[in-house]
Amino acid sequence: MMLFPKIIEYQPYSICNANCTYCPVGHLNREQKLKGNSISQEVFETLIEQTKSQKIERVSPHLNCEPLLCKELPDQIKTWKKYHPNAIIDLSTNAVFLNEKMFLNLVDAGLDILELHYMGVNKDYHEKAMKTNYEKVKGNVDLALELKKKYNVKMDIVVFSHRLKGASLSQWNDFATSLQDKGARISLGPLWNRAGWYGKEFEKKRKGILKSNKPYPCPKPWNQIAVEHDGEVVLCSLDYKKVVKIGNILKNNIIDIWNNEVMKRYQEGQNDIKKLKKLDLCNECIRGGRYLINEATLTKLVTKKIENPIAKLFYKKYLQVIDLF
Ligand SMILES: C[S@@+](CC[C@H](N)C(=O)[O-])C[C@H]1O[C@@H](n2cnc3c(N)ncnc32)[C@H](O)[C@@H]1O
Ligand code: SF4
Ligand code: SF4
Repeated sequence: MMLFPKIIEYQPYSICNANCTYCPVGHLNREQKLKGNSISQEVFETLIEQTKSQKIERVSPHLNCEPLLCKELPDQIKTWKKYHPNAIIDLSTNAVFLNEKMFLNLVDAGLDILELHYMGVNKDYHEKAMKTNYEKVKGNVDLALELKKKYNVKMDIVVFSHRLKGASLSQWNDFATSLQDKGARISLGPLWNRAGWYGKEFEKKRKGILKSNKPYPCPKPWNQIAVEHDGEVVLCSLDYKKVVKIGNILKNNIIDIWNNEVMKRYQEGQNDIKKLKKLDLCNECIRGGRYLINEATLTKLVTKKIENPIAKLFYKKYLQVIDLF
């Protein structure tokens, strides 16, 4: 049986304006002096053409870039909604360009989930982590939440942050509950060692105890395709240097790419630990589920709101203990 990906992740723009310490995208863009350009009309139309007869569950236009740099993004979302009305359109942004006009255009286009990648525990922490202006991003996050309330917008807003050294769970709890009060959904996840990118540096960066260092099966090679702005298909969003050559949608059809020899090796490798250990990138990839305290538990811990001051004091002490894990 021929497989087809259920999730389409693509790159509406070629670069990112930010330069997060835990993501190589901004750093590589600068090192390689990459120019910024939107996905070409040809690649976008090919994506639509090759997926329109298939059942797509999610579309994420945020592959390794800053999607709001793409002027055509709201029109692209409308097109996805036209051809795949039941697919969830979910996008993640660093919120630097999230002004009122952009927000309302995204709502009007039918975006289902807006993820705001934001590390604003405090100014210093945020700016060290993402190298974007704290006041600007905080203002845009607050504005988006105000507009959601004012216009009774259904679109979900999720503030997404990473647990790194330098902030305690108690600080994350204050950050998360204040944003929840403004109408945001919160997600706090541990740092991934994305396809082994950090090597030994990972030990210095991460906060939290790992359950295991062994490779772990991943669903992405089965269900999630990653298409770059020029039509190149990469293994996943973590193949920053395009190590695994898979194909280009301008030359081959997605269905053929998804069932070619390289993809078969990556798909079958997920079911066999011996094969998985031999797969470039996957064999060194540490995702959030590998931590003793994973994303779901972290999020639950930091979103708990306690009104009673004495109970709150005890909860903060409890978070101090959990912070050791
Ligand atoms: C690569 S970004 C692209 C979209 C946009 N620039 C942004 O930051 O939201 C997509 C997602 O990757 C996540 N990410 C980046 N580096 C990560 C890491 N080391 N561990 C876990 N998630 C990471 C970000 O939080 C973001 O939600
Ligand atoms: S996580 Fe997003 S904002 Fe940060 S450098 Fe990577 S692509 Fe840019
Ligand atoms: S395990 Fe492999 S396919 Fe999955 S995210 Fe890591 S590098 Fe990508």
